[in-house]
Amino acid sequence: MSRSDKNKSYDTNGLKVPVSLGVIMDGNGRWAKKRFLPRSAGHRAGAENLKELCRNCGRYGVKYLTVYAFSTENWSRPEDEVHQLMELFVEFFNKYDPELEEEGIRVRFSGDIDALPEKVRQTIAIGEERSKNRQKMQLIVAMNYGGRREIENAARKIALKVKSGQIEPEDITEKMLSDNMYLPDVPDPELIIRPSGEMRLSNFLLWESAYSELWVSDALWPDFGYEELTNAFRDYARRDRRFGGLSSKEEES
Ligand code: FPP
Repeated sequence: MSRSDKNKSYDTNGLKVPVSLGVIMDGNGRWAKKRFLPRSAGHRAGAENLKELCRNCGRYGVKYLTVYAFSTENWSRPEDEVHQLMELFVEFFNKYDPELEEEGIRVRFSGDIDALPEKVRQTIAIGEERSKNRQKMQLIVAMNYGGRREIENAARKIALKVKSGQIEPEDITEKMLSDNMYLPDVPDPELIIRPSGEMRLSNFLLWESAYSELWVSDALWPDFGYEELTNAFRDYARRDRRFGGLSSKEEES
């Protein structure tokens, strides 16, 4: 299945569930503020909730879960917060790997990984290697990720092929761009969930979200649990995805 395919959704206990789901884990800071806690406590609660989301998505039959963990813009946060986030990533993948293994979850990363601190790059390399044969679900962690950066990189790779005479400009297609994104084998998300009430993509999966359904929840990320996920899937199951064409009912008439 390629990224540009129209994905088929699974049917779990009568509920249509996306094969590929994107989640923007937003609201950790506000969650902490409401409790008079430091922002780092919010990120820690967010990490615990990511573990829960993985378990719930695995049980629902989601095959690819892409989460936005750190954007190319997040470097502008205070140095201390960036440092604590990097430490938390390392801790999470070391601490929870046995649980991810039990759930059959393969871990992959998407983004400008080479620019991350050495310790994080090592954790990424180890995490990807030790989970590579797990089959049930893929957790794709967008780290130092930016949708525009991803498109920029793809354009550069293609431009180099033109420069070296391997292809002509006329040979460039949408598929070629898709094939040059970070993880071309991961299907485009049918559904993107954004907690904490904000209605924007914030540079997440810009190329891949062309036909994604969007679902926004008022719950802050650490509070976004099984019930909210089920609500999102129920709502998604009712949506009529037309991809610029007609609905199946209109086609029949
Ligand atoms: C946005 O909320 C969240 C982030 C920038 C970090 C996301 C990270 C986690 C959920 C930690 C766990 C991740 C992994 C991969 C272990 P915010 O801090 O901007 O919240 P706010 O908008 O309420 O301030």
